[in-house]
Amino acid sequence: MRPARAPEAEPDPDPTADQATKDAMSSPTTDSPAHSASTASTLITNIAALVTNDPSLGDGSPLGLIRDAALVIDGQRVAWTGERSKAPATDNRVDAGGRAVLPGFVDSHSHLVFAGDRTAEFNARMSGRAYSAGGIRTTVAATRAATDEELEANLTRYLREALRQGTTTFETKSGYGLTVEDEARALRIAARHTDEVTYLGAHIVSPDHAEDPAAYVDLVTGEMLDACAPYARWIDVFCEKGAFDGDQARAILTAGKARGLHPRIHANQLSHGPGVQLAVELDAASADHCTHLTDADVDALAHSRTVATLLPGAEFSTRAVWPDARRLLDAGVTVALSTDCNPGSSFTSSVPFCVALAVRDMRMTPDEAVWSATAGGARALRRDDIGRLAPGAYADLLLLDAPSHVHLAYRPGVPLVTGVWRRGVREV
Ligand code: NIG
Ligand code: FE
Repeated sequence: MRPARAPEAEPDPDPTADQATKDAMSSPTTDSPAHSASTASTLITNIAALVTNDPSLGDGSPLGLIRDAALVIDGQRVAWTGERSKAPATDNRVDAGGRAVLPGFVDSHSHLVFAGDRTAEFNARMSGRAYSAGGIRTTVAATRAATDEELEANLTRYLREALRQGTTTFETKSGYGLTVEDEARALRIAARHTDEVTYLGAHIVSPDHAEDPAAYVDLVTGEMLDACAPYARWIDVFCEKGAFDGDQARAILTAGKARGLHPRIHANQLSHGPGVQLAVELDAASADHCTHLTDADVDALAHSRTVATLLPGAEFSTRAVWPDARRLLDAGVTVALSTDCNPGSSFTSSVPFCVALAVRDMRMTPDEAVWSATAGGARALRRDDIGRLAPGAYADLLLLDAPSHVHLAYRPGVPLVTGVWRRGVREV
């Protein structure tokens, strides 16, 4: 069922990937400007600050920042970036009005196939009760009871919401079905909207197997994996007390690898544990959360190609201790920033909000946070065709109503994203 993968799209030798061939998000909103696919070239000029994430461009920093810049889109790709005065002739022209342009956000961690909400749980928690993994069961019950149409409508709604805030690529997971049929249908629905689909049958032990977790692990690594693998690129486990321990997680991820899925792990979110070390051991693309880390965990990440994906929306929404981004960055770990959008622990689809939190509370610089939300997300998905604006990359980009990317953190909560292009097409 998978078309051939474009060779330049994926540096990781994962045979299941095909992300260059399908749109990364759902159809644009009805309130978006009219858009039409075009093979004509378009110049976006009068850009005060262009974030390319190509250190060989502009100021030579990791952001590859070009001042007084222009960019040319040709079809779905970036054809040229540079100083405005040197721009080549094109068919069309857009005046950025002295504002900032940056790569579209790459939200490499979300849980968007679900029904219902958890307002009551959030309200209770904000009134003093701690978050635990148990609330996931509420969403499992609501998700199982929903029709396919309801689940897809819900997913589409959050994708539109994310697109309006600058997200041009998203990953999303199953994990609220926990039966063979319910997990497979979640992934089938997700795969209609993104190539970055993750099988998370091991979110928690299914309530149907509460008395026999080993039988549930057998299901997740057996019949459920068989049903889910055709729709997924990734496999994930919630490695945590109350969910799956290190041995169970290793068994699940190893079974997934044998089926051609590549691992990523919910690791060290609520407590210290084996998740990060396991991620490195298995060459997972990403260890997600990384809130409670030992020095050995940080060291292991620093000497691996596993990205640490930080999800500050979860700490915000659970009033938990922040992950120490500064410690990771100073040790040389590659850091991504994502929303973790889900109805329980982080019900935000806003990458700009996460950027602001990371700068204010996790000691990231504005430049680092913007890099992590774009290039970092691409690394966490082992992609090099997104998350940067250099010739050959997809023309996934956003226009801020601000002169600099720094305003994403400087002006928290302000809807600054005023234009979004995806695959060269303006959608917002
Ligand atoms: O990433 N940690 C596990 N999964 C989610 C929470 C899901 C939920 O509470 O529904 C997370 O935070
Ligand atoms: Fe998550």
